[in-house]
Amino acid sequence: MPRLITLSRAARLVGVKRGALQKKIRAGEMRTFEGEILLPDLLHAYPQTQIEDTTMLERVEQIMEQAVNKIVRPADDAPNTDTLAARILALSQELAQARHEARRYSALVGALKDKFSELAAEDGTTGDDAFSKLRDWFLQALEASEPAGVADEDILAKEAFLRVMAAQIRILPSGHEFFIEGSDSILEAGLRSGLALSYGCSSGNCGLCKAKVISGQVKKICPHDYVLTETEKGLGYILSCSNTAVTDVVLEADEALGARDIPHQEIAIRVRKIERPDDRVLILHARTPRTNRLRFLAGQYLSLEANDLPALDCAIASCPCDDMNLQFHLPVASGNPFIEHLLNNTRQNDLISIKGPHGEFVLNEESPRSLIFIGCNAGFGPVKSLIEHAMALDIAEHIHVYWIVTAANSHYLGNLCRSWADALDNFHYTALVTDTETGIEDLLPNILNDFDNLNHYDCYACVPGPLVETLEASLCRHGLPGKQVHMEPIR
Ligand code: FES
Repeated sequence: MPRLITLSRAARLVGVKRGALQKKIRAGEMRTFEGEILLPDLLHAYPQTQIEDTTMLERVEQIMEQAVNKIVRPADDAPNTDTLAARILALSQELAQARHEARRYSALVGALKDKFSELAAEDGTTGDDAFSKLRDWFLQALEASEPAGVADEDILAKEAFLRVMAAQIRILPSGHEFFIEGSDSILEAGLRSGLALSYGCSSGNCGLCKAKVISGQVKKICPHDYVLTETEKGLGYILSCSNTAVTDVVLEADEALGARDIPHQEIAIRVRKIERPDDRVLILHARTPRTNRLRFLAGQYLSLEANDLPALDCAIASCPCDDMNLQFHLPVASGNPFIEHLLNNTRQNDLISIKGPHGEFVLNEESPRSLIFIGCNAGFGPVKSLIEHAMALDIAEHIHVYWIVTAANSHYLGNLCRSWADALDNFHYTALVTDTETGIEDLLPNILNDFDNLNHYDCYACVPGPLVETLEASLCRHGLPGKQVHMEPIR
């Protein structure tokens, strides 16, 4: 039986995105067997793959890393010595086992061949009887079974190397997969990959990240105060925030399936900096305590409170994959006391209370469709959070971003959008300007004319509140199916 490998690992081996392989599967160019593909199919689909050349793979990873603008990692992305040693030991044990099996079967095949010759010599059977047919079939089948080709051996060697550098986690029951890079914990790696895993403190105190190991080996990387009972340990339960993977691991773990699965939280965050990219918007950067991070879904919003001022609802503009460093884009409206407070009285390290998260403007992760994002003015904030989450998940075949502003030179993160478009083949960015908010509707037909078949797209738009219903009706009138349109007012 030819070797099967998971889609995620196959994508790494040939240096393409998972989406590219899924496209080939849908086109019938590759077969899948419960989420895995055959190595010969992979080599057939990518005959030009330079197995020994890792530059393509590294480039894809580098681009994704820079493009998504993820958490700053330690300079060295390799697993630490202990984890490397544990992975090499596990792989060596697997190799020794495979060698032992290979020797056993080889001896058995040799003995069978000898036995056939011996019996044929004894009985003189060379004709059309069942014994002769079985012997002839066996000898022919042996002759026909080819040893692995050079390409097969190379790709298997590279796969073994990748397994040492990064273990793969498969989550049940969702089937989501991700890799553990460097010395990340299972929880950190899962969050970076865009998964909404259950957790609380991230530091081994609350037990909310408890998960059950179904197969594979894990390794404790930090001590934890939360006590797992002996029964739980016996059943394979671990804390995903305090363990990393030694081998590929299958894990049964809770994931949020929607906004209702995210608990209400109240956290005091510290201001890191306030930016004024132009006079219409301010960008607030803040940080949660290390042991009390914010669990949220991309696209949701929070209530911000400070100094007994009326609370301000504000969309989160950063990605849940970086749950400690939060970003908010606030439209600067004169007279708003909270905005005035941020502009005039707030300093680095000041505390702001956040409550939430709220809202259902979140990505439909089960959808196989490509994505259209439309952000108006500071409505780019939650759209940015969704874009970064979609890039971390790496499931959309194409991502199209339209940012509409109502004053010239107001695309305050235009460079970031252009860098995404430069780095990713499937990312398309268009900056649009109109004179007034009511002019936004006039731009919609032009946007939708870019697409041949709108049935293949989900659209997420964050627009001025009074225009939500009008613009939603307009998007549907121009061909987007209603259930694929997700609208949110700018907060
Ligand atoms: S997240 Fe609290 S113990 Fe792991």
